[in-house]
Amino acid sequence: MTVTAVVGAQYGDEGKGRIIDYLAQEADLVIRFQGGDNAGHTVVNDMGKFALHLIPSGIFNPDTANIIGTGCVVNPLALMEEIASLDEAGVDTRNLWISSRAQMLLPYHREQDELEERAREPGQEIGTTKRGIGPAYVDKMARSGLRLGDLLDSIWLEERLENAVARTNRYMSALGASPVDLAAMFNVCQQARDALADRIIDTVPVVRTALERDDEVLLEGQLGIMRDLDWGVYPFVTSSNPSAAYAAVGAGMPMHAIQRVIGIAKAYSTAVGTGPFPTELENGSGQRLREVGGEYGATTGRPRRCGWLDLVPLRFGSWLNGLTDLAITKVDILDEFESIRVCTHYELPDGRQEADYIPDTALLTQVKPCYREFAGWQESTTECRTMAELPSRAREFLAFIQDSVNLPIPLIGVGPERSQIVVNEA
Ligand code: GDP
Ligand code: IMO
Ligand code: MG
Repeated sequence: MTVTAVVGAQYGDEGKGRIIDYLAQEADLVIRFQGGDNAGHTVVNDMGKFALHLIPSGIFNPDTANIIGTGCVVNPLALMEEIASLDEAGVDTRNLWISSRAQMLLPYHREQDELEERAREPGQEIGTTKRGIGPAYVDKMARSGLRLGDLLDSIWLEERLENAVARTNRYMSALGASPVDLAAMFNVCQQARDALADRIIDTVPVVRTALERDDEVLLEGQLGIMRDLDWGVYPFVTSSNPSAAYAAVGAGMPMHAIQRVIGIAKAYSTAVGTGPFPTELENGSGQRLREVGGEYGATTGRPRRCGWLDLVPLRFGSWLNGLTDLAITKVDILDEFESIRVCTHYELPDGRQEADYIPDTALLTQVKPCYREFAGWQESTTECRTMAELPSRAREFLAFIQDSVNLPIPLIGVGPERSQIVVNEA
């Protein structure tokens, strides 16, 4: 039995949701450890197709406990909607829990996200999901945030909310925006308490018991290493740490409890939002990847920027995250391509080469990606379930990635369905 962190190895949307859904068939506990409803984790299984935002992707196994962890920012209204839509689809949500220490994201955070994005100078926009994620984490760091557990004590809640709204209104008045109405926010909190109180728990005893029992535990990350607040393409990043080191903090367990770290990467690259993206293809191949891959945001519907696979973030992220394994998804999207490219390293303006380190943002905008080209396999992989069934050129492509990153690739996605996966036992 193992504690496994599952993290994005690129710019997000690598297929974390579908891999967690697959692994959760055998899991006792899944904990989302950071982020909020900026996530769009798509799961396709025999219950239907779902875009999860806050609810962990283990929810489809009724025997798996699913916790929205302490490291998350939780919009209770969005969560209530998400629970209702799963209930409507016949998914059993009784095993869904929320950490009492998770931060609450309130409607004014969304408004602030919108205002801040609009106030940024041209070229400095982040292209956020406008879900209020940044402002909610700012309040957490400023120690003005409300936590889900605050809902359970009305006197404490009132005091905390008054303080938070007063602080927010100082900011709103500086921007000339309308002040936040305290009574309206109190009303939101009451709705949240009525709907969610029974799910709010202290996670410490649950996680301790799971570790003592040697349960199978999955820690679900949101987004990917390139959007990590500290190690991504700052400032074009999210306001939390999608990297594995944060999984222990956000889920609430000792870091040495994590034995396995699986990085998820697509067979090509995509990014939503602004900032440098060296392998971006602004030509026909980028358009083709977008159309064949259905690369439109699961949360915002925005077209995703597309490009060839970039091994530099994979190698850097492998080191920084301490990856033990890599899963490659969407190999089937390359099925019809006549030729496929992989970025092996960057050339810097001074002529130096970088293969396993992401230069800081200003320099990253100036690198030249250098590619190796592969002949495409040009046959369908969607029915393949073993390595032997994959076309030999697809195996060579995967072997090249495996050797370049020096990690085993135990799981290979060949379609969005739970069953469309090649388990590589080598
Ligand atoms: P996440 O945010 O990392 O969970 O990824 P998203 O769900 O935002 O984006 C991944 C998209 O690719 C979703 O539409 C998935 O259904 C889809 N997907 C995941 N794995 C595969 C795969 O192996 N093949 C294909 N064709 N689609 C996949
Ligand atoms: P999943 O979990 C892709 C991007 C936004 C923007 C930056 C900051 O589905 O992989 P934020 O709203 O977090 O302040 O936006 O991060 N972004 C995502 N891109 N997938 C996501 O989530 C994302 N969540 C945020 O586009 O560039
Ligand atoms: Mg996504």
